[in-house]
Amino acid sequence: MCGIVGYIGDGNATEIIIDGLKKLEYRGYDSSGIAVYEDHKILVEKVKGRIANLEEKIKDKKFTSHVGIGHTRWATHGAPSDVNSHPHSNMDNSIAVVHNGIIENYIELKEWLIKNHNIVFRSETDTEVIAHLISVFYEDDLTDAVYKAVEKMRGAYAIGVVSANEPDKIVAVRRDAPLIAGLGDGCNFIASDIPALLKHVRKIYLIENNETVVLTKNDVKIYNADREEVKRDVFNVTWDADAAEKEGYDHFMLKEIHEQPKGISETLNRRLDEDGMIKLDGIKLSKNDLEKFNKVYIVACGTAYHAGLVGKFIIEKLAKIPVEVDVASEFRYRDPFVDENTLFIAISQSGETLDTLAALREAKSKGARILSVVNVVGSSVARESDDVFYTWAGPEIAVASTKAYTTQLVCMYLIALYMAKTKEIIEKELYDKYIEELKEIPEKLNTILNKEQDIYEMAKDLYKREQVFFIGRGPDAGVSYEGSLKLKEISYINSFAIAAGELKHGTIALIEQGTLVIALATQDKLFEKMLSNIQEVKARGAYVIGLAKENNKDIETQSDRVIYIPQCMDEVSPLLSVVPLQILAYYISKLRGCDIDKPKNLAKSVTVE
Ligand code: G6P
Repeated sequence: MCGIVGYIGDGNATEIIIDGLKKLEYRGYDSSGIAVYEDHKILVEKVKGRIANLEEKIKDKKFTSHVGIGHTRWATHGAPSDVNSHPHSNMDNSIAVVHNGIIENYIELKEWLIKNHNIVFRSETDTEVIAHLISVFYEDDLTDAVYKAVEKMRGAYAIGVVSANEPDKIVAVRRDAPLIAGLGDGCNFIASDIPALLKHVRKIYLIENNETVVLTKNDVKIYNADREEVKRDVFNVTWDADAAEKEGYDHFMLKEIHEQPKGISETLNRRLDEDGMIKLDGIKLSKNDLEKFNKVYIVACGTAYHAGLVGKFIIEKLAKIPVEVDVASEFRYRDPFVDENTLFIAISQSGETLDTLAALREAKSKGARILSVVNVVGSSVARESDDVFYTWAGPEIAVASTKAYTTQLVCMYLIALYMAKTKEIIEKELYDKYIEELKEIPEKLNTILNKEQDIYEMAKDLYKREQVFFIGRGPDAGVSYEGSLKLKEISYINSFAIAAGELKHGTIALIEQGTLVIALATQDKLFEKMLSNIQEVKARGAYVIGLAKENNKDIETQSDRVIYIPQCMDEVSPLLSVVPLQILAYYISKLRGCDIDKPKNLAKSVTVE
C-alpha cells in the first residue's frame, strides 16, 4: 500500500530512487513522484500512472541531486491524479513529504491549518496535511518539526521528509506501516521494503513503531518517541537480488507459479529432520501448551485467509481441536471469544497487512498465544507474534499470490501434524504417511507444471467468458475460493466460489445455458457427491471443467473438459489442485490483455484498514 524510497549519498538520487520505486510498484501503482534537492530548492515531479510515466516526464531534466525521496501510490484519499500524487509540499515548497498509510484525523488537522495558519491546500490527500504541519512547526530543526507534527497525527503510517533548509538529511517516521533504513558506504536509504534497496545494500535496520530515523550521507540514527537514541542490530539480508527479478518469465506471477516446488521443498526442509520429525526450532509449543488450548483462531486476509480455510480442515482433523477461521477485518470488531486458552494463528505473506496486524493485537490483548505464518522475515506480524512459522517461498512480487499460498498450506499441515503428534493422538503410520505425501508434492507439482501448454489451450477457449463458478466439497471448497479469487483479481471476470452442496440453496438460479463451472472433485470420499453436483449444473446447461485425481476417470462422463492432478491423499490435494487454477487464471488474463502482475485497484501489501 504505497511504496517509499529515500536516498542520500554521492550517487544520482533520481536514478536510484526511481529504480527502487520500480521494485515497490507491487505496493501501489496508480501514480508516482519524486522530490529532489536541486539548485538549492526542493523540486517535485509527480504524475498519474505507472513509474514509466514519471520516467518519461523527467527524462530530459538531467537531475544531478544527491538527496531525495520518492513514492509509488495506491490511492486512499483523493483519486489518482497528478496533483494528488506524492510527494506533497508546504506552501513555499521548501519541505516535501512522502507517505504510506492514512492520517485518520486529517480533516480536523486540515481545518486547524486553514483557520490558524491560512494554509491553502492543493490536493485532496491526507498527506498534504503532514507537509504543512511540519512547516508550521519548523524553526531551525527538521527533526524537531517532524516530532511536533507527528504528535498531532493519528493513524497508521510511514513518512519520509526532506527540506531545502537542511539538504544534508532525510527524516522518516514509522507508525504501524513498514519502514527500513539501508546502510550503504557513504550513502544511506529508507524504503518500505527490502527489494527496493537490494541492488545497493545488504545491511539494514528494521525500524520499529513510533521510531524516527534521521539519515545523513554517513550516518543513520534511530530515535524513540521520547527522542532518545536507540541502538539497533544490523539485519543482514541473505537472499539473492535475482530472486526479485523475472528471470526470463513474462510475468512475476508465472515465475512464482513455477517456483512452488522449490518453495514447498524449502518450507518442508527447514522444519523436518532426517527422520521426518517436525523441528520447531525456537517455537515454544509444549505438550502442556497444546493441551491447554481449547480453541484455535486462524485470522488472515485474501489468499492467506483461503490458506486458513484449508488449515481449519486439517487442524480439526488431525489435532482434534475446534478451529475458527475469520477474515481479519471482521475479527476485531465482533468481540470474539479469545482468551489465554486460545491459540491464535495469523497468516500473512507480507506480515504487514494492517487488518491482520490489528486482529493479532486484539487477540494478544485478550491473552491469546500468537503463532504467525509469515513469509517476510522481520515484518511487523512476525515481530509482534510469540512464535513465527516462516514460509520459505522467497520474495513474492506479483500482486496475485501463488507460492505464498502453497507454502502457507505446507505450514498448516506441519502445524496440524505437530499438534497431533505432540498430543499423541496420531498413529505413527499415519503421521509417516502424511510426511511422505508432503515430501512427494514438489515432484507431483512438476508434472502439473509440465502440462502448462494444455492449460493454455484450454484458456484459449475460455477467456471470453464473463461469468465463472467454482465449486467443491471439503478442502476442495477452500481451494475453490482461492481459484475464484485468482481468476477475478487478474482477469476481472465475474467469478464466484461456493461449496458444491450449497449451490442448490440459491446460487444454482444463476446457472444457465453455457455458464462456465469449474468443479473440483479431488476427494475420493466425496467424489460421487461431486458427480451429482456436476450433474445438477449440467442439467441446467452449464459447461463444466472437472478437476480430479488421475485415477478418477469417471469425471469425464460428467464434464466437458477435465484437468487431472497426480494421485495423492485426499487431505493434501489442495497443494496440487490450486496450481492448474493459478495457471488457468494466468493465461485467461494474458489472453484478455490484462496487466497480470499489477491488476487494477489492487495492491500487494495493504497497510490501511
Ligand atoms: C492483499 C493482496 C492479496 C493478499 C492479501 C493479504 O489484498 O492483494 O493478494 O492475499 O492482501 O496479504 P498478506 O500479505 O497479509 O498475506
